Order: sequence, then C-alpha cells, then structure tokens
Amino acid sequence: MSSTYVTTPIYYVNAEPHLGHAYTTIIGDAITRWSRLTGAPTKFLTGTDEHGLKIQQAAEAAGVSPQAFTDDIAPKFAAAWDKLNIANDDFIRTTEPRHKVAVAELLQRCYDAGDIELDTFAGKYCVACEEYYSDDELVSAEGVAGEGELCPIHQRPVEYFEEENYFFRLSRFQDRLLDWYAKHPTAMTPEHRGNEALGLIRSGLRDFSISRTSLEWGIPLPWDPKHVTYVWFDALTNYLAAVGFGSDDQDYEDWWPAIHLIGKDIVRQHCVYWPAMLMSAGVELPKRWAIGGWLLVGGEKMSKTSGNVVNPLDLIDDIGLDGFRYYVLAETPYGSDGDFTYEGLVARYNSDLANNLGNLAARVATVVAKKCDGVGPAPDPDSPLSAAAETAYTESAAQWAELQPSRALDATWGLIRATNAHLEQNEPWKADPGPDVDRVMGDALEALRIVAILSSPAIPDTAQTVWERIGMPGQVADQHLPDAVTWGGYPGGADVVKGDPLFPRIKL
Ligand code: ME8
Ligand code: MG
Repeated sequence: MSSTYVTTPIYYVNAEPHLGHAYTTIIGDAITRWSRLTGAPTKFLTGTDEHGLKIQQAAEAAGVSPQAFTDDIAPKFAAAWDKLNIANDDFIRTTEPRHKVAVAELLQRCYDAGDIELDTFAGKYCVACEEYYSDDELVSAEGVAGEGELCPIHQRPVEYFEEENYFFRLSRFQDRLLDWYAKHPTAMTPEHRGNEALGLIRSGLRDFSISRTSLEWGIPLPWDPKHVTYVWFDALTNYLAAVGFGSDDQDYEDWWPAIHLIGKDIVRQHCVYWPAMLMSAGVELPKRWAIGGWLLVGGEKMSKTSGNVVNPLDLIDDIGLDGFRYYVLAETPYGSDGDFTYEGLVARYNSDLANNLGNLAARVATVVAKKCDGVGPAPDPDSPLSAAAETAYTESAAQWAELQPSRALDATWGLIRATNAHLEQNEPWKADPGPDVDRVMGDALEALRIVAILSSPAIPDTAQTVWERIGMPGQVADQHLPDAVTWGGYPGGADVVKGDPLFPRIKL
C-alpha cells in the first residue's frame, strides 16, 4: 500500500497561532486520521518557518535575538496543536540542523545543475509576503493593480531593495512546468485554484532572487556563505527535510512525494517555484497540492492591523474542542473562502452536533435503558439501515480521498439522519419490550458504531466516547476500513451507558 505524507504550510512565528493556521492544520489532521483508518502508512507534518526578514524585524522590535524570539513562539504553535488534538507525526522548525542539511543539499543540486546564477537585483519587496512584486502587480489604496505602491495581499507599502543576488532561473521552467501539469491534470485541486497557478505560469516566469547579503537571519549558501538563502527557498525545503532528504535515504524513499495542503495566498511559491526547484534538483514532484481558501472574519482576512484576529483556543473554551474541529471541517468546502462568525459556529454546532448526533446517542441510550435492560441488542443483518451505512461509507471515503472533509462529513451525517428517521418511524419508545424493539435498537446501535468510526477523523474524542458508551472495546481509531464498517459488526450483549449529553445545546 502506498504511503500518505501530508504537510501543512510551516507557519511564520512572527505572530501567535490564529484561527487561519488552525484551519489548515485541523484539515490536515482529519485527512491523515482518515488515512490511518484505511491502514495506509501515514505521516502528517507541520512546523514553523523561522528565518527571513519578517522574523528578524519582529525579533528586533521585541528587543531579543531572532533565535530567542523563535524559541519563544515555536512552542506556542506546538502547544496550540496539542490543545486542538492534532496528531502530527513530526513538527519541523527551520532552525533545526536536519533542515539546514536539506536546504544546503537542495541549493547545491540546483547550483550544480546551473540553475542558480549571480546577478544584480533591484526590486520592490513586501516583507510580510517575503516576496518581490513588479509595478504591474502593486496596487493603489483602492486596490487597483498597476497603479500604486502597495502589496496586493497586505495592502501595505513595499520596500525597495538593490543588491547582488543569486537568482534561480525560473524563466527556464515555463514549458517544463506546463508539460508536467498537463500530464498531471488533477495534481492541483480544486480545479479553479489550480487554474490560477497555471495562469501564473502561462503569463511568463521571471527569475527570482534566492539570496541576500544584507540579511543575517538565514541559512548560508554552501558555495558562497556571505549570502544567506531567500526565506522561501529555505521554507519550502522543510517538506523534504522532514523525510530525511540529504541525510536518510530510506526515510525519503518511504515517504516522498508529499501531498501539500496550502492556502491560496502561497500558490505561487508552492505550485510554481517549488516544482521548478525540484525539477532542477532532480527530485520527484509532489503528489498533490490541495489549495484552500481563506477563512475570513467579518469578510476580511485576519490580520493584526484589521484587529480581527481570532484565537482558536478561545473558541474551544466556548464550544468545546470537537465542536470547534467539526465546524472548521464541515462548514466550508475545502478550496472555497469561508466567513467565520460566532453565530455560524453555534448554528452548525446546534444543528449537526446537538440535534443530530447528540440527540441520536442520547435517545438510543435512553430507550435501551428502558426497554432492553440497558443491554445493547444485536443488529438485524437485513436492516433497512444497512444500505444507508454503506452509502455513508462509500461516499465519505470518496470525499476524504478528494481531500473534501465537509462533503465527507455530510455523507457521514447522512447515516445519522437516516437513523434518527428510522427511530422516529418505528417509535421504539412507545412500544413494549420485545424482539421488535430489540431489532430497531440493535440497528441504531450498529449505525452509531459505524458513525463513531466514520466521524473519528473529525471529532476523535467524541467518537471514542460514543464507542465506549455503546460497549465497544478498545480504540475507535484502531479500526480498519473498510472491514470495520461492514454492517453487522455490533456484537450485542454489552452494557450501554447514557452519560452526559455529548453536545449540550448552546444558546447565543
Ligand atoms: O505563508 N484562512 O506562513 P503563514 C485560512 N511561512 N487559512 C489561513 C488563514 C486564513 N485566514 N491565515 C493563514 C507562510 N492561513 C509561510 C509558509 S510553507 C513552506 C511557508 C493558513 O504563517 C493557510 O494555510 O502566513 C496559509 O497558506 C498559511 O496559513 C500561511 O501561513
Ligand atoms: Mg501569511
């Protein structure tokens, strides 16, 4: 079985983790939890991007060394991921030795291939993007391209730089990139975001500067150490560094190539620069780029200047860990922009979690207590719910494979809705104890068992609670698809526990 290696962007440590970082990280976590259920060897990587001018300036502003600055913030990302129940297998920091080894190796290979050359550069640079822009890309205060001096992403003034730099000869890769993408038409998803990247390539590629002499906080070029590597060349290499590129051939063989989850803000670097760098170095290109939209707050991108930064840990306090995770995963199709509102968070929680899943679990336990002596009956092999269970599995499996958690969860919730409808139709709470009630309740318990498995990538703690309350042994996360969701797996005969409401309704 081929392995699954999923990466998030490595986040800049100039600020603490916010809702936008949590968004991509939770999606990666859920996708890899699903992958582990399928039995595929799976690795999930996240980390922090710690070099470059942006970090150097943030450290200066804080009055500490860049290393001390990053040593303070990087653990805050790791701690936030811990609180969000992110099961990353590795956390890479670009200040680590293994990363520096990989960057030197990749640089040297591109240099040896003749694709890195010395030249003089003058240009306008956005420090927030760590990116040069041409005049036709810069925008006015009104956002008009070609008529201003502001970064198109951050709407803030760019800085003028002029110095002798090494350049990566990106201009040589236009045809090769277009050919490769033509042969791999589903490599970038969703399609409309992939088309944006193809548009960038078709519009013509300029060589980009990959070194600075004026910057100290970075990795030196191996052949000319008075130059320090451009932060994006450095940062992108993390994906290789974490699987032993330049140091552990077996690890690299086992995991590379990766599936990259990225936001739409960093398409140029990931879908244009990165594959060209890899081609130059003779490294296999990624399997896939899954390009996410932005989670906006009040219709705007979160930023310190807009004052609309949302801390994900505050939301957990309000709505619970799994309530928050579920919202992030279910609310917006991956690739589209979403708008975060507190009302939307509560509405999603109340409808899908409190009213659907929570209500199903509670009513099943109540009826089993009253009509089945608290012991779960076995399901009917020919239950009308078995078709709904099969559909929930096949559709959600297809959507997880498409890296579309919201659609996968909708398919899973289809089984919850079908089971609630089945109960309402049969009204076991009104019937006398006996085989009819037992059959309906066995079916509902079997559906809950399957729901626990299928929902576990999104709401791992709740799924485990459901699993235990219906009397299943062990860990829901240790189940194997597809066998584990074959209808009839609920053995019957175990005590069913009601417990506290899984998702108490929340009033705004
Ligand atoms: O760009 N909505 O780091 P970064 C959705 N260090 N996703 C968001 C988001 C939002 N409002 N805000 C951030 C960098 N993200 C570089 C990456 S990778 C080799 C180097 C997510 O801290 C989204 O995935 O600015 C976006 O691409 C990423 O955070 C950018 O994080
Ligand atoms: Mg950014």
